[in-house]
Amino acid sequence: MKDIIDHLASTRNLTLEQLVGLLASEDSEGIRYLFHLAHQTAQNSYGNKIFFRGLIEISNHCKNDCRYCGIRRSRTGIHRYRLSKEQILQCCQQGYALGFRTFVLQGGEDLWFDDDRMCDIVAAIHQQHPDCAITLSLGERSRQSYQRLHDAGAERYLLRHETANRAHYQKLHPADMSFDNRMRCLQDLKEIGYQVGCGFMVGSPYQTIETLFEDLQFIRAFQPQMVGIGPFIPATGTPFADRPAGTVEATLRLLAIIRLLHPHVLLPATTALGTLHPQGREMGILAGANVIMPNLSPAALRADYSIYDNKLSTGSEAAETVNDTRQRLAPLGATLLPDRGDFKPQHPANDEPET
Ligand code: 5AD
Repeated sequence: MKDIIDHLASTRNLTLEQLVGLLASEDSEGIRYLFHLAHQTAQNSYGNKIFFRGLIEISNHCKNDCRYCGIRRSRTGIHRYRLSKEQILQCCQQGYALGFRTFVLQGGEDLWFDDDRMCDIVAAIHQQHPDCAITLSLGERSRQSYQRLHDAGAERYLLRHETANRAHYQKLHPADMSFDNRMRCLQDLKEIGYQVGCGFMVGSPYQTIETLFEDLQFIRAFQPQMVGIGPFIPATGTPFADRPAGTVEATLRLLAIIRLLHPHVLLPATTALGTLHPQGREMGILAGANVIMPNLSPAALRADYSIYDNKLSTGSEAAETVNDTRQRLAPLGATLLPDRGDFKPQHPANDEPET
């Protein structure tokens, strides 16, 4: 086990058989070593810093009907909302005062937020907080739209690829969504010059070791600046409501593997991980994650952004408690600093894998 992990860390590569071995292993000492090396690798890349981003969930309206998602179009019985420009700016002001220097505007694919409205909001945030980074996570849009938003001041974009396997993609999504368009979006975002995040759920229905291996190969080829992974958690009122959730353990192992494959990637310990385990985020950091994204949305609406059941939005998930979180992370040797937390490109001269 230790050999596989050392080999993974030094070559930044692994085979399907090695992935199977790591995910199935019951060698708890070996797995501790995996987490330890991943955590150390994150520290080598970014020191003790954990970057924090303020997540603003701007709308839970969505035109899509993804089979896993609790805010899918056909889900009934949930309160739909969208934030006004003023509400969004207010969230940013509150976040700024708390030390946040990155704002992530996330939402369902809500046609109300067309390019004119969205660019106006991005430009206003950019003007009020020129020292902050603006990240968007608004799903699939046209290349022209991505370009306009970038011109308005958005520098980063999160769009999980969800799965790199075409057949698996089709099982997770309705017929009017396509793997090709998702890939087109990611490519466009990259070409335009965004720092891009892709990612996937761990334990999504129909996922196999082979599709996970394809995810890792895709990440390797695409070279994103960020990778968002968290456990799948079933959502009431969706076709996958009765499916089992992904596990904390598999998520931690995959975080660690991704950290070793990509020493500099920005890797959040996600809300989904925190939802499945009270110490999920700390465990994620100890397995190589280096970003947390507390919720900055208006508190009264947080529960409505119910992409899965029991989604955490209080305690350490809440932006207001960032100072408590800072204290909770201190024993891990992790410091939260008011910092944009940009991706740090690898320096080829001293940071290349051994061959
Ligand atoms: N469980 C976990 N993650 C989910 N997402 C959507 N639905 C769920 C769910 N039921 C993730 C998707 C999406 C991101 C915003 O949230 O990967 O890209």
